[in-house]
Amino acid sequence: LNNGVAITPPMGWNTWNHFGCDTSEINSQLIYETATAMVTSGMAAVGYEYINLDDCWLAKERDADGRLQADPIRFPQGIAPLADYVHSLGLKMGIYEDVGNLTCGGYPGSENYFEIDMKTFAEWGMDYVKMDGCYFPVDDMEETYTQLSEILNATGRPMVYSCSWPTYAFVNNQTVNFTYIGEICNLWREFDDIRDNFDSWTGILDQMMQYNRAPYASPGHWNDPDMLEIGNGGQTTAEYQSFFSLWSIIAAPLIAGNDIRNMSADIINILTNADIIAVDQDALGIQGQRAYQSGTSEVWTRPLVGGAIAAVLFNRGEQPATIELTSDILQVSSNSQFLMRDLWQKTAPTQVFQGSSSFSNIDAHAVIMLKLSPITGSFGFILPQLRLC
Ligand code: DGJ
Repeated sequence: LNNGVAITPPMGWNTWNHFGCDTSEINSQLIYETATAMVTSGMAAVGYEYINLDDCWLAKERDADGRLQADPIRFPQGIAPLADYVHSLGLKMGIYEDVGNLTCGGYPGSENYFEIDMKTFAEWGMDYVKMDGCYFPVDDMEETYTQLSEILNATGRPMVYSCSWPTYAFVNNQTVNFTYIGEICNLWREFDDIRDNFDSWTGILDQMMQYNRAPYASPGHWNDPDMLEIGNGGQTTAEYQSFFSLWSIIAAPLIAGNDIRNMSADIINILTNADIIAVDQDALGIQGQRAYQSGTSEVWTRPLVGGAIAAVLFNRGEQPATIELTSDILQVSSNSQFLMRDLWQKTAPTQVFQGSSSFSNIDAHAVIMLKLSPITGSFGFILPQLRLC
């Protein structure tokens, strides 16, 4: 959707993966504390900006004028003051609704109230709207998600528009025109809800490849493989590093799904790795793909600005592995030379890549993530191969 927002994949935080529909946790205090933690943890400084309320923030009834209202006990001042606080920190705020007559969690849905609800969100100062698709006929989703896109635009407030339509189409074995969805939505979910385990997120990657979704991503239009689970406790540090690396190489929205008020140093280091975030946010907006697969060894690559390439060497197996990176895999000529930087080890980019390079002892479920920068002459062109006799 060309509405001037989500030019790079959105970065932020969302309640759902950690707090679900736990009404003892989802309240204004959580939002105030999380927005504060976004700044104090260093996440804001590396680009995280959206503080998103997912399902279960609503009162069970609309007000006398038919307007949505937040649960009055948990959000005594409503949503607008929260957005003011979030904005005062230089951050943005997002919210969740559903195109059906109920949200998935059973709160009032937006059906029959689209205009008034989107106007309400704009008045409250929302910057991001996730529209879920529970309790709504899939056959009517094209029309409804299109209508909502127009209504959001008509509010005059730029809001990131996140669409769940393809998720519901997928489970109903219906096809969606992804070129079209890119025209009306900024990002779109398709596959099953993510869980905090290795098989869940690797399975989503496999589906992204199987259905060849990468070509539909570009600035303003992103595939959404679902939010992060990093820091929720179900995976090892190596697995979380791999997860973050792969999400970045596929230009995924980076929406943290943990309790960012309480994070270990390991988790902060993963979520704030600026070199890897720079890959995710690369201005070309090309979604990386799996370029090589042999057994449980994989190489994923992504073209970056300036002729650079990001590569993730991913060992999905249970034993340490050696993975070879080659110019064939990178689809560059065997003469091309690059300087390699290891984005987790944060090595100085001094090692030259040409032709091939072998990486041994990659731990089970771990990655090596590299940025390869072309070696160029002082006039910016790529130097001819240096012949060593
Ligand atoms: C289904 C979505 O896929 C989840 O991300 C979350 O928003 C829940 N619904 C909320 O009920």
